[in-house]
Amino acid sequence: MRLDKLLISQGFGPRKECQFLIQHGAVRIDGEVCQNIKQQVNPKGLEYSVHDVDYLYREHIYLALNKPQGYECSHQPEHHASVFELLPELLIYRGLQSVGRLDQDTTGLLLFTDDGQWLHGLTHPKKHIAKTYFVTTKDPIDSTQVERLTKGVALRNEIGLYKATDVRQLNEHALQLTIHQGIYHQVKRMIAAVGNAVDTLHRSQIGEWVLPDTLAEGDWQYLEAADLIKLQHQ
Ligand code: URA
Repeated sequence: MRLDKLLISQGFGPRKECQFLIQHGAVRIDGEVCQNIKQQVNPKGLEYSVHDVDYLYREHIYLALNKPQGYECSHQPEHHASVFELLPELLIYRGLQSVGRLDQDTTGLLLFTDDGQWLHGLTHPKKHIAKTYFVTTKDPIDSTQVERLTKGVALRNEIGLYKATDVRQLNEHALQLTIHQGIYHQVKRMIAAVGNAVDTLHRSQIGEWVLPDTLAEGDWQYLEAADLIKLQHQ
């Protein structure tokens, strides 16, 4: 791949800007400045630097954000900040999209990618990828509510019953549950359908991939091949 094309693919801007960076000595490979825009490079596993910041070539980007409250999953947010403000511009320039959405007041695991096929695979209604939430409720939870969530509840304007699996009551006002679809406001609507109301909502897991405790609110990390396999569990 030509060096200028590689930089374009990695989000460093349009062709002219990438060529400018190369010609002005900002790009190094193996520590050597490379000023030839036509230089052929093997992108696989390529480590390079731009303005002394190190990068690894990635054909696609997959990342996990620990979403704080007060951020909308939209490039054009209406009432709050955008989750994209929490990510580096370089990545956004590559056309990064969120994998599904979390409400502005929901916290926790939110995925992003620029790989349309992978995004489709995770969000397609037929895939039933498991998503685990930690919920606190406004009213005390009773065993009937837990039972109804497990058996399935009807939601207005939706066909069929919506079930949660692995429903575990953690205390009087907290439970953990897993859902296998991803319709609009699903958890809040399910909790409302059993006669309670969500106070706080936090997504802790997708598939078998658990949001690490070490990832602070507002921080993100790249996902590697082993992580992608775990995420696809139903
Ligand atoms: N269910 C909801 O109600 N809100 C979310 O943000 C995610 C799942």
